[in-house]
Amino acid sequence: MKPVQVGLLGIGTVGSGVFNVLSRNQEEIQRRAGRGIEITMVADLDTARAEAIVGGRCKVVKDAREVLANPDIDIVIELIGGYGIARQLMLEAIDRGKHVVTANKALLAVHGTEIFEAAHRKGVMVAFEAAVAGGIPIIKALREGLTANRIEWIAGIINGTTNFILSEMRDKGLDFDAALKDAQKLGYAEADPTFDIEGVDAAHKATIMSAIAFGIRVQFDKAYVEGITKLAAQDIRYAEQLGYRIKLLGITKRTDQGIELRVHPALVPARRLIANVEGAMNAVLVQADAVGTTLYYGKGAGSEPTASAVIADLVDITRLHTADAAHRVPHLAFQPDQMSDQQVLPMSEVVTSYYLRVRVADQAGVLAKIAGLLANAGISIDAMIQREAGEGEKQTDLILLTHTVREGTMNEVLAQMQALPTVLAPITRIRKEELA
Ligand code: HSE
Repeated sequence: MKPVQVGLLGIGTVGSGVFNVLSRNQEEIQRRAGRGIEITMVADLDTARAEAIVGGRCKVVKDAREVLANPDIDIVIELIGGYGIARQLMLEAIDRGKHVVTANKALLAVHGTEIFEAAHRKGVMVAFEAAVAGGIPIIKALREGLTANRIEWIAGIINGTTNFILSEMRDKGLDFDAALKDAQKLGYAEADPTFDIEGVDAAHKATIMSAIAFGIRVQFDKAYVEGITKLAAQDIRYAEQLGYRIKLLGITKRTDQGIELRVHPALVPARRLIANVEGAMNAVLVQADAVGTTLYYGKGAGSEPTASAVIADLVDITRLHTADAAHRVPHLAFQPDQMSDQQVLPMSEVVTSYYLRVRVADQAGVLAKIAGLLANAGISIDAMIQREAGEGEKQTDLILLTHTVREGTMNEVLAQMQALPTVLAPITRIRKEELA
């Protein structure tokens, strides 16, 4: 049978990984797919760099639309990124009846509904294993491996840059700014790291997992997104004293009230496996009713780990593209006419527990007042430590861990606490997830 022909849009770090892995493992991949898979065209604005990578093994063009216009191309790999031209090209590829493989989490999290509907109408596949957690086959696991289950929640370390920074902060006692500089020097953070450190990249990935886990539309606009830029080294130290690590988590959970979808730093018990995921590694914890807890760990970025996911999608499409469209795995795991219209809850309705660091005047009755405000709102204290005030120092830090409470209630109590004259600085609040 003639090989499946693939057109690659954008041959940067991931694109060159796809090219290299596909060439290196060609024989085994063909034995698995049942057909050869060949990249026959590459489009990149930097044609000289593209030529250097492909070394004459396929045609290089500058204009991506030349790839789309080629009737011999069966599958288009979109590795351009962003919401702009990538969206246009993807919709055009679908319109021309081509299957698409993409690593573009931002595009799917924001425009996924439009893209999947277009693909469904045309009977083509849009595959996106590489969009979430790089080389970890988490889309496959959620969409197929766990298909017997009612998924209850997912919590993941799904951004390697921020996990690297948090590991540096803990290992070396650095504040955020210093750890970010280290990460940039070592190539773990980009020159403009905004999407990573502000939690946006993780929220894109959490949005996609949420849709697949619960059969809901992608709802990135409803996600709560908080990054790690305000974390202080002292909070990491206090958390450690209390038996916790701080991780940036992407969380999505099914509740009776609706779906939680949120990204924020969280204290996680140090004894949990996921709390021990260090450096740029990713991990995703899934709680489901039949299987219980499963944990997926690996490289969330990088040339060949991401290429591994892209090529897995190429193989899937190669195996399935002759199948009736109705017999393929649905894009969002659930049949398109069986999607739920469940909404993502506002953050004020999320129920979780908290770490609070309160800078207070070191005088009688201050702790009682704070405990009183919490008690009045029905918030139970789980643990507490007080920093010993230094010689002659008139203020100290109270560190409190609470039991679970509605975030809206906690916000009201924090406002009351902050208004006390004996509370001397903005209160630090970090959410706590037991992940039991
Ligand atoms: N920038 C991401 C990370 C990888 O640091 O994990 C691509 O999503």
